[in-house]
Amino acid sequence: MDSYKYRPEPYRIKMVEPLVIPTRAQREEAIKRAGYNTFLLSSEDVYIDLLTDSGTNAMSDNQWAGLMLGDEAYAGSKNFKHLEEAVRDLYGFKYVVPTHQGRGAENILSKIMIKPGDIVPGNMYFTTTRAHQELAGATFRDVIVDEAHDPDNEHPFKGNVDLNKLQALIDEVGPERIPYVCMAVTVNMAGGQPVSMENLRAVRELTSRYGIKVMFDATRCAENACFIKHREPGYKDKGIREILREMFSYGDGCTMSGKKDGIVNIGGFLAMNDHELYQKATALVVVYEGMPSYGGMAGRDMEGLARGLYEAADYGYLAHRLDQVKYLGDRLIEAGIPVVRPIGGHAVFLNARKFYPHIPQDQFPAQMLAAQIYIESGVRSMERGIVSAGRDEHGNNRHPKLELVRLTIPRRVYTYAHLDVVVDGVKAAWENRNNVKGLRFVYEPPVLRFFTSRFEPIE
Ligand code: F0G
Repeated sequence: MDSYKYRPEPYRIKMVEPLVIPTRAQREEAIKRAGYNTFLLSSEDVYIDLLTDSGTNAMSDNQWAGLMLGDEAYAGSKNFKHLEEAVRDLYGFKYVVPTHQGRGAENILSKIMIKPGDIVPGNMYFTTTRAHQELAGATFRDVIVDEAHDPDNEHPFKGNVDLNKLQALIDEVGPERIPYVCMAVTVNMAGGQPVSMENLRAVRELTSRYGIKVMFDATRCAENACFIKHREPGYKDKGIREILREMFSYGDGCTMSGKKDGIVNIGGFLAMNDHELYQKATALVVVYEGMPSYGGMAGRDMEGLARGLYEAADYGYLAHRLDQVKYLGDRLIEAGIPVVRPIGGHAVFLNARKFYPHIPQDQFPAQMLAAQIYIESGVRSMERGIVSAGRDEHGNNRHPKLELVRLTIPRRVYTYAHLDVVVDGVKAAWENRNNVKGLRFVYEPPVLRFFTSRFEPIE
């Protein structure tokens, strides 16, 4: 028997965490208390938590066993050596600087590579990545293909860089003002969309003519590798590890949030090939994170991450992971719900503009949709639209084309039955869509506002 209704789990459950389903009255009360911001809900008030796939993963028995082997020496921990070996082996970068999570690596990379007035091109922004680039004095420029901004376009590699946009930017500002191209694999804000190997090769080719470096945001690189295997001609019979090594051969280093494709709850790193850059990074990591041999992580956490990186590069695991996300997307598509297509690697993104065409973007339709889904079902999701995009240097709201809600699937945590509950919750929000009004700010912080801002409904 090898045909299944859906690809079954390549693991079994060894430990459980009981969940409580709050009543509708409790949910209505909880979202009001949270200022209509799902980030401010208590975890206890949530039934199925699809806020993020970041740090919410289930570790394997092998990873948990690794925690017991933590070498908690202040310097020279053997778990750091294991992490370093794993990154060298899987990604091919020479030097590894551990950090407490991805943004710790982004902070250091931005500080050592950017000078004020620089321009950093990238395949769409990510919130923390751009914040660190801006804090270091750079301006971010989006050079992703236009298809990425169109939720209905079925392009198989919507994460690709538009080479004409990149060339035009180099011509406009000059290569001296571009410290590196930030290459995210996959592209979170576009819907978890992958970059093709052909595009990575072409970006490398173009930038090397000008001496511009390519730095990867490797956060979901294993998922990107699996998409290449599934979609790109010539890669069907290649192994994930081989694909990963080729992907990273087209760059000079990476930042990594281990909380995603490291399948751990905390941790990250910065990696590179250039020794001088490595020395600059170690000089800063001691200021912001810790010794270059732990960088904000316990020895046990580095061991869990080293093992998780290998598990994430396993095709059986990845195929199930991508299928599970696609299962949720396909059920929603069948129900006529507007979602970003194709379905990405870590999440299904709902198109809030089509839910609430009557709510102007300045009244935060996606923020309201996330609140409504929670009220309907106890499922927690996240806004990825105008609130996440923040304000520009003049203090005006940025208006991203994509006004989305993200249903993010943690790795190895939920079953298909859970996903069916999510489908019902989203359907209920869809059926009630005409009765929903917009929101206004009650409190708005200056940076990364989506985390802590509060709202109230406009009556
Ligand atoms: N880059 C990407 C593409 C990310 O998705 C994230 C985090 C980071 C960098 C920063 O890593 O959280 O370890 O500091 N994304 C989380 C999310 C927060 O929910 O998408 P971090």
